[in-house]
Amino acid sequence: MDEIKIALGKGRLEKFTLQALQEMGIEFPELKKGSRKLIFNDTEDKIRIVLVKASDVPTYVENGAADIGFVGKDTLLEQGADVFEVLDLGFGKCKFAVAGLPDQATKPNQKLTVATKYPKVAKNFYNNKGVSVETIYLNGSVELAPLIGLSDVIVDIVETGRTLKENGLVVLEDISEISARLIVNKASFKTKTERIHSFINQLDDLLKKHSIQN
Ligand code: PRP
Repeated sequence: MDEIKIALGKGRLEKFTLQALQEMGIEFPELKKGSRKLIFNDTEDKIRIVLVKASDVPTYVENGAADIGFVGKDTLLEQGADVFEVLDLGFGKCKFAVAGLPDQATKPNQKLTVATKYPKVAKNFYNNKGVSVETIYLNGSVELAPLIGLSDVIVDIVETGRTLKENGLVVLEDISEISARLIVNKASFKTKTERIHSFINQLDDLLKKHSIQN
């Protein structure tokens, strides 16, 4: 029988996801050794995880290279993907926000410039408000942009708020809440129905157990 392939994004969600899998009785002994490998089979050879860049998870799942993916709603909103989003996992909570200097002055008749790793999210947010903006794509350390005059504001994810605080920036507007989601490849949902449903149900039970405990 084919194993179920799971795409797991490295970074922010990795620890929580592996913990959830472990609580479901799915263990990856080699991963624990701090290996540099990118593909791991569980002890029963029923599940294979591939460790990928977090922003690539939807691509792996949409194209069927993975049946299932653990991914942040931030990535899904930015990339869009033709997949089923089946569960809100409740962990990896943060938010999208507009941030800038506390004394951010409005510049009449000038387009607002927004530095961000999430241009689609930023454009949608401002389009809905009827404000036209110029987005500047940055791949990280976005907080620098308003500090050195590259942009007026940033659109970014805020978790603890520490990065903003340490750089003298503040949240100017909240955009939307974010958490980790479980996504499933559309074809796999049909061809591996039983195993995928069983995986989703097991994970859902685990989440319910945790929400009762909290
Ligand atoms: C994200 C985000 C902020 C920071 C927010 O960056 O872009 O910089 O986390 O977290 P905080 O509110 O808890 O300080 P990430 O660490 O994912 O790295 P990146 O800069 O490479 O995007």
